[in-house]
Amino acid sequence: MAQEMKTAAVIGAGQMGGGIAQVAAVSGLNTIVYDAFAGSLAKCREGHGKRLAREVEKQRMSGADVTAALGRIQYVESLEALKGADIVIEAVVEDAGVKRDLFAKLAGLFPAAGGTILASNTSSISITQIAGAVGKGGGPERVIGMHFFNPVPVMKLVEVINGLATSRETTDRVIALSQAMGKAPIPANDRPGFVSNRVLMPMINEAFYAWMEGVAEPTHIDEIMKLGCNFPMGPLRLADFIGLDTCVHIMDVLADGLNNDRYRACPLLKQLVVAGRLGDKAGRGVYEYPTK
Ligand code: CAA
Ligand code: NAD
Repeated sequence: MAQEMKTAAVIGAGQMGGGIAQVAAVSGLNTIVYDAFAGSLAKCREGHGKRLAREVEKQRMSGADVTAALGRIQYVESLEALKGADIVIEAVVEDAGVKRDLFAKLAGLFPAAGGTILASNTSSISITQIAGAVGKGGGPERVIGMHFFNPVPVMKLVEVINGLATSRETTDRVIALSQAMGKAPIPANDRPGFVSNRVLMPMINEAFYAWMEGVAEPTHIDEIMKLGCNFPMGPLRLADFIGLDTCVHIMDVLADGLNNDRYRACPLLKQLVVAGRLGDKAGRGVYEYPTK
């Protein structure tokens, strides 16, 4: 029987961490959010206030429930302040080195005997590789992939990925938690990009090739895929929404992990990232977002 959780810690207060924290708090969990950058935390707090106010406006939540949910969220500036959490959900940049450094620190802060689950929201990186950073004594059996989708409050899926050492108890508890958060957990194996990004990201990458090779202009590529395939967003618009930096990181993991150059990120996609055009979060990517 999965143990009931009371407190969730979220590391990384960006688009994903902010969304995960919001859903956790609304589902009744005490939620502690940490980010290495104070500016990200402030933006995250502001986003929670705005998005939950919208829930009241749309009569999806009562004002009292929103006040209670916001009251359950703490924004903290040190990793130590996460102590006592039943689960840590990491949502920092899609970089294996950064994630491994963080998990090594988490193993020190949360001794394995305490039973705290260490989950990663990675889009593509091997859970076994991340779990390796906690070491044998650090409890690799409690490391798991808990992959939410963007925007977290709207998207139903949590892709659940076991590493080589992940225990049955860890998986059961993460499945129970995902359901308690109103999500549909579905398992995938620990292969580069799992299922979601093995399929989605090469399609997005191909849209950049289509643009680069002049098959059509960006708006037409997106409209064709929206109207012809019933996608809610075209692939280039979706890339901006995800973050072009994240798209490149995911393609790098696919190309290296599957050892196949057909997964290399399109040069035009890489060029936009180098130019700082990271998508919605930067106010500019394939398209312009002057108000963001
Ligand atoms: N955060 C929270 N809620 C949001 C949101 C956000 N960033 N953006 C939109 N919403 C919610 C709003 O509540 C809105 O409802 P209300 O207006 O009633 O409040 C609702 O979504 C619909 O939004 P809009 O009417 O503004 O726009 P829309 O109908 O086009 O829907 C969308 C927006 C839900 C994002 C939709 O376009 C969509 O589903 N796009 C595709 C998203 C997708 O594919 N996500 C997966 C990305 S891949 C991934 O996540 C994995 C990875 O590892 C990269
Ligand atoms: P983001 O750039 O919006 O946010 C990342 C946050 O992590 C930033 O606030 C940054 O300040 C913080 N950060 C960076 N290094 C840190 C560290 N060492 N310690 C603490 N905080 C740190 O990125 P995002 O889109 O939220 O993506 C986060 C993770 O979620 C990535 O692994 C990504 O692949 C994954 N993911 C992204 C999406 C998506 O659509 N964007 C969907 C599913 C999963």
